[in-house]
Amino acid sequence: MQFFIDTANLDHIKEAYDLGVLDGVTTNPSLMAKEGITGEANIRAHYKKICDIVDDKVSAEVISTEFDAMLKEGLELAAIDPKIVVKIPMIKDGIKTIKALSDKGIRTNCTLIFSPGQAILAAKAGATYISPFIGRLDDIGFDGMNLIEQIVHIYDNYGFETEILAASVRNPLHLIKCAEVGADVVTCPLSAIIGLLKHPLTDSGLATFLADYAKGNK
Ligand code: G3P
Repeated sequence: MQFFIDTANLDHIKEAYDLGVLDGVTTNPSLMAKEGITGEANIRAHYKKICDIVDDKVSAEVISTEFDAMLKEGLELAAIDPKIVVKIPMIKDGIKTIKALSDKGIRTNCTLIFSPGQAILAAKAGATYISPFIGRLDDIGFDGMNLIEQIVHIYDNYGFETEILAASVRNPLHLIKCAEVGADVVTCPLSAIIGLLKHPLTDSGLATFLADYAKGNK
């Protein structure tokens, strides 16, 4: 299972990378805005900074919505760094763009996936990754994890090579459930990765070990 961090915050990306468990980064226009990164040139420079921190797989999202513009923007984003994966929204022109980029050997991540049908279409177009949004489905009373299970089953049926990148993963439980049902990748905030570390019995057990050592080694 691969861990991606879902942020444009350079400190968080560095912290996850230094932990030694980070396989990639996802961003989106909202995450860029949250860090105060605005304007095409600044955003592209920020993608480069992220690429300079991590080993590979940095999703950079297009903001165009029509085929010609999406393709042009996708090619420009891919030219920033070989680590870039072009993130394309699940719309009709997005599917055409994924196919065109995929035919050129450029990796893509189809984002805003909320149904198995969308996942099938993106895989048929040759997407490297699809991003189903678990948390946002949960937010409106649908079971996000059920969607991941359905897509895992469908992709297994046909041997689709598209990887399931579970997104809108907000906490350690989401992450563990994704591992149980077989998502290839999870992308989540640093807090969800760090949350995996925690157990009160680990803390109390370590405190006892250290106290016993101190008693016997005065
Ligand atoms: O990767 C998609 C993610 O950024 C969406 O997360 O928490 O805004 O639903 P969230």
